Amino acid sequence: MKRVLLIIGGGIAAYKCLDLIRRLGERGFAVRCVMTKAAQEFITPLAVGAISNERVATDLFDLEGEREIGHIRLARETDLVVVAPATADLLARMAQGQGNDLATAVLLATRARVLVAPAMNPAMWSHPATQRNVRQLEADGVQFIGPNAGEMAEKGEAGVGRMAEVGEIVARIESLIADNEESASGFGFLNVSGSRAKPEPSLPLAGRHVLVTSGPTHEPIDSVRYIANRSSGKQGHAIAVAARRLGARVTLVTGPVQLADPDGVETHRVETANEMLAAVEAALPADVAVFAAAVADWRVAAPGRGKIKKAPNAGPPQLELVENPDILRTIAKRTSRRPTLVVGFAAETSAVIENAQGKRKSKSVDWIVANDVSEETGVFGGERNRVHLVTPQGVESWPEMSKAEVADALLARAAGFLTEAREQV
Ligand code: C5P
Repeated sequence: MKRVLLIIGGGIAAYKCLDLIRRLGERGFAVRCVMTKAAQEFITPLAVGAISNERVATDLFDLEGEREIGHIRLARETDLVVVAPATADLLARMAQGQGNDLATAVLLATRARVLVAPAMNPAMWSHPATQRNVRQLEADGVQFIGPNAGEMAEKGEAGVGRMAEVGEIVARIESLIADNEESASGFGFLNVSGSRAKPEPSLPLAGRHVLVTSGPTHEPIDSVRYIANRSSGKQGHAIAVAARRLGARVTLVTGPVQLADPDGVETHRVETANEMLAAVEAALPADVAVFAAAVADWRVAAPGRGKIKKAPNAGPPQLELVENPDILRTIAKRTSRRPTLVVGFAAETSAVIENAQGKRKSKSVDWIVANDVSEETGVFGGERNRVHLVTPQGVESWPEMSKAEVADALLARAAGFLTEAREQV
């Protein structure tokens, strides 16, 4: 039985841990919980203990608890440590290596991988101090999930700071534990030099993070109508699947599609271009980012709050459009945390290669996958694709292939690019 040690921090999202414990139990995980003092202000150890079926550890100096299992055993007898919700304060104490309560002492003593799900007010998340702590923890080998963009518990607050959804956390726990199993050498244990051991690079993208956008975006006109396009998401989803198959950790940010979330892929469903950008930024850093989404170029400046009524003799409403952020350009032009390889798509109906070359330069993208989407090609919504790969070295025209084959070929190239980049360092 796989064991997860869940450290519950003191945020309103703590209540979601009850569902998380239940869902992990359904999937055959044994979950043991540690609660910080602040967490106990939001949910009780009694509730957590009842759902996890285990005694809940709360105090570093709990003599009875120490005799029964002790903080060192708590730290050691687990396959993964999950911190959820991780508050700004808990992240700061982790980054500093403090061990002044049971949660931080366990985090110092563990040799297992650590997955952190932050949750806090957007201003606290974007504060330079918190971002500094996040970068430090990432450098120490800590894995992050979220935070997501959306509404906060506080009325009227929105932004990046919501804890990742329980389903996303469960999927990530499963994929981290699967990675552990893939690595026969005992992934996550300290090596002789004291740094965290990396997985055996058995697959070309093992240990890499690949970020993919997919599908269309929906831009609201009012509460029932929206502007959309014909993208099916098939190519973007195929890229996420191919990256996962090659061993990467994959984050897929998708607009509304009829496709199921791919197995083993952390999928964020969004509606609008603005939401897509926030989710992409929250998923950084990444080694490779592939932007296959057909993002709407414009949105309605002031969408109607309810349904805009068709009044007799009033004529059609005048919709003012404003430009959406260009997600690909925004990420490609970043000066910090820019993915090593940024790949865009260019769907064109004429002068396919010339337009793609222009786009590659103007958006500061490394590679562009260009394809002809004029109606007679049947590419939009279809299973097959004929693409040209535009790189700084030139243009390669690939034969017609299925979208899955295009994805496999592209990701294999990306893996090769990363290996070369590493060798040049
Ligand atoms: O400029 P154009 O829309 O043709 O560029 C296509 C590429 O840019 C695709 O990779 C698409 O995902 C990305 N894009 C984006 N955000 C936009 C528009 C396009 O990420 N607002």
